[in-house]
Amino acid sequence: MTVRAHLDFLKSWIEEKIEDIAEGRTPEPDKTFAYYWEKNGAGSSHFARKDVVFECFHNFVAFSQWGNTIYNMMQKLGRSTGDPAARDWLVKTMEGDPDNAGGGAFTPLERYVMEMFRLISPNGGSISAIEETIVPRFERNGYIVSPHTSTGVDPVHWENPLEFDPTRYERVPTSQEVDEAKARQIGFAKCPFDLTSFEVKDGRKAALNNSAFGTVFGVADGKAMPVCDYAGFAPFGFGYRRCPGEQLTIQAFEDFLRKVWNDKIEFVKLNIASPEPLPIGPRTVIADNIGFTR
Ligand code: HEM
Repeated sequence: MTVRAHLDFLKSWIEEKIEDIAEGRTPEPDKTFAYYWEKNGAGSSHFARKDVVFECFHNFVAFSQWGNTIYNMMQKLGRSTGDPAARDWLVKTMEGDPDNAGGGAFTPLERYVMEMFRLISPNGGSISAIEETIVPRFERNGYIVSPHTSTGVDPVHWENPLEFDPTRYERVPTSQEVDEAKARQIGFAKCPFDLTSFEVKDGRKAALNNSAFGTVFGVADGKAMPVCDYAGFAPFGFGYRRCPGEQLTIQAFEDFLRKVWNDKIEFVKLNIASPEPLPIGPRTVIADNIGFTR
């Protein structure tokens, strides 16, 4: 099967599944993302059925980054391959009160996972097309990359940037705090992105708000669920294009670490001369050389 044939097959499979959700043939449709997208898109040209299909397709690809993340987390926690500070912090976090934010924006376990993401940075950069300021004499295309990996460890943003230290997120601004006043403090005459709130149309009491940088975050039943809106925290991108799967991903890895902790799992580098190269996502191949003991 060619790549094109694979993609066409996947597209018609997704179209069929969305049709099933829309027509009530899927049990518990409200457990799917597509159910909410269909309801909120409501057939409008801003989020039509074809956009929902593309979103499902994109998110299949996005999920592949979890494989890369798990591999790197196992390596960081590994008995011989790991980062001792990351291992010590896991013990400290889990033996403390991992799910108690204590009035702060993030729980200790959330901060631990955020620190893992900053240092692993599974998504290396965001690409943007450059617009010409004058019409060029021949057609050409230019791109710029906002690098996530190097931004995350830049000493401009953090003290001891290479050190594993989840406490750094106790002091960062959140997307809810980056408002008009913060924009003025930074030196903008006005918010680069006007502050807006979109109510959802699917029956829930929830809205999508944005920060002055354009970072979108949810507010449900009047409670904001902000993200860390600081230039040094880049694994999920910046501003208006930032990853909407960030909190889902962070919570999934909180669960992964709970399992590791509760089952006393230890990761071990396997002594294999030529480990199998395993493709786990677009442009990502890992050496299948980490096992675990319980
Ligand atoms: C390890 C996991 C993930 C990482 C590191 C990650 C990282 C990113 C980054 C860096 C961007 C910004 C790209 C850009 O600026 O062009 C992005 C965008 C996006 N991500 Fe993720 N992502 C992850 C998982 C997910 C998941 C699980 C979903 C959905 C279920 C998702 C949905 C999206 C979408 C829809 C966008 C596009 C946002 C927009 O342009 O408005 N991501 N992601």
